[in-house]
Amino acid sequence: MIKFKQEFLDDVFDIEKNSFDNHWSKPMLLECANNDAAIFKVLVEKEKTVGFYIVTTACTEAELLKIAIDKTFRNSGFAKKALLNIEKESIYKKCDKIFLEVSKSNSAALNLYLASGFETINIRKNYYGTQDALIMRKFL
Ligand SMILES: CC(C)(COP(=O)(O)OP(=O)(O)OC[C@H]1O[C@@H](n2cnc3c(N)ncnc32)[C@H](O)[C@@H]1OP(=O)(O)O)[C@@H](O)C(=O)NCCC(=O)NCCS
Repeated sequence: MIKFKQEFLDDVFDIEKNSFDNHWSKPMLLECANNDAAIFKVLVEKEKTVGFYIVTTACTEAELLKIAIDKTFRNSGFAKKALLNIEKESIYKKCDKIFLEVSKSNSAALNLYLASGFETINIRKNYYGTQDALIMRKFL
């Protein structure tokens, strides 16, 4: 996993666009890259950009803002590997828990988080139009 650099912007933006309906713009991604409180990492495999994640930390809390894997590389364990790295980095930053928000209908992400030990602590009704958002937490 490599720290985000400008040279990854086009690849990361493509993955972002193909992964989220309300995708972030390139300037929004760059803003995260320039935020000292954000950990922005790119997964590279055999010189191909496979995915990325963005985590912010504040005091003892980490928040997973984004994780996305390129469609052609999904179901190969990359997100699971990324989550393990996120946990290690959060512990290094002295965080004792990670929060995230996920649509209840996003079964791939939901299964990933449940399998990784996250628990649902709150539900935001109709947060994504007709879909509920789940707030999840994992103690580290
Ligand atoms: C969610 C996402 C990051 C998973 O990435 P991935 O690399 O394919 O996931 P992994 O291969 O590491 O899978 C890890 C676990 O996630 C779950 N999972 C992954 N894809 C799944 C799918 N299509 N359906 C059901 N469960 C799935 C499984 O529990 C899997 O564990 P298993 O293989 O032991 O059964 C990927 O689907 C993605 O980029 N989606 C679009 C962006 C997104 O929704 N991000 C999360 C926003 S909250």
